[in-house]
Amino acid sequence: MSILKMSDLKLKGKRVLIREDLNVPVKNGEVTSDLRIRAALPTIKDALKQGAQVMIMSHLGRPEEGSHEEQFSLAPVAKRLSELLKMDVPLISHWTSGFRLGDKPIVLLENVRFNRGETDNDTDLSKKMANLCDVFVMDAFATSHRAEASTCGIIQYAPVACAGPLLVNELEALQKIMKNPKHPVVAIVGGSKVSTKLSLLDALAQKVDCLIVGGGIANTFIAAEGYTVGKSLYEPDLIDEAERLMLAAKNRGAEIPVPTDVIVGEKMSADAESSVRLVSQIDDNEKVYDIGPDTIKHLTGIIKKAKTILWNGPVGAFEIEQYSEGTREIAKAIAESKGFSVAGGGDTLAAIEAYHVADKIDYISTGGGAFLTFLEGKILPAIAALEDRMKKNEKVT
Ligand code: 3PG
Repeated sequence: MSILKMSDLKLKGKRVLIREDLNVPVKNGEVTSDLRIRAALPTIKDALKQGAQVMIMSHLGRPEEGSHEEQFSLAPVAKRLSELLKMDVPLISHWTSGFRLGDKPIVLLENVRFNRGETDNDTDLSKKMANLCDVFVMDAFATSHRAEASTCGIIQYAPVACAGPLLVNELEALQKIMKNPKHPVVAIVGGSKVSTKLSLLDALAQKVDCLIVGGGIANTFIAAEGYTVGKSLYEPDLIDEAERLMLAAKNRGAEIPVPTDVIVGEKMSADAESSVRLVSQIDDNEKVYDIGPDTIKHLTGIIKKAKTILWNGPVGAFEIEQYSEGTREIAKAIAESKGFSVAGGGDTLAAIEAYHVADKIDYISTGGGAFLTFLEGKILPAIAALEDRMKKNEKVT
């Protein structure tokens, strides 16, 4: 992959427009998790330190295009960014046709998705954005799977377009996992549905030595082994796919270990009673909410011996204490393993925070959809646009 990097450029005196993914959770006007903002800080600080005038742009949520919906304003992000940078970061509301930057060192441009044409990757809007800057820095790995004006179109038209350090770090960490990983490679994929992660499971079943499944996904695999899962969340239509994946892994000498015991309960609530069950003994009225102690012991043993670990998704309903042990022990095993570990995805990050293992995981991706798209082996449109731009530049020089 050949792309121009921000580290290849001198930014002093340049107007630098940086696309970050500052799509963070906001409640009552306050940012509730600033992980993505903090991840963007090194890029922003580097550009400021070099003496650039910095304009940051991002989306937040999915507002209706063309209307300014206050609940999707980046105002809470501007506030948090100002606190973290210890300097004022003014929020600019109407900016597509130009605005007075004056001598401000940094500004945040209001939600890119308030502009008609953003999600359609509109050419006029892309050109207007490109006109704002001398250098465009694409740093939003977490939105690199979207072909939008601020992530893709602008790359064609900006005077100079390059990849920021966060984007480059993300790509390097994920490539390390997917290209030439050290074996054994273990992937843990949790989540509610096989159907939403089928492409990921397919891609990983071809690559890893052990694919651990959890959550509702595991229930479909338990059903594929011929057991009843009671009233649990599972997908009967995907049982054939689960069988196919297990066979595909087995044919390459890999495995998808299906839980042998589980935690069942009647409901998803803190006051629900829970019990351990062998998978052969799940009652018709019960629901599976976590993996059981024998399964935990077996899986954590595999994880501790792994040389490469990829984690996406909790293995149980870990928000509820009595269903949390599986995810907690998996998180601890990843933290204790000497293997190179990468984790990503919204729920995964919540589990990492809950069990305080962030500093023991080698790389935590800011990406949700982008992380999965990369691991599925699909093209990320923003990366493709940066590669195209690089090829065009090479032809000119
Ligand atoms: C994400 O949270 O995964 C990214 O910010 C992309 O958001 P989107 O799914 O609304 O495009």
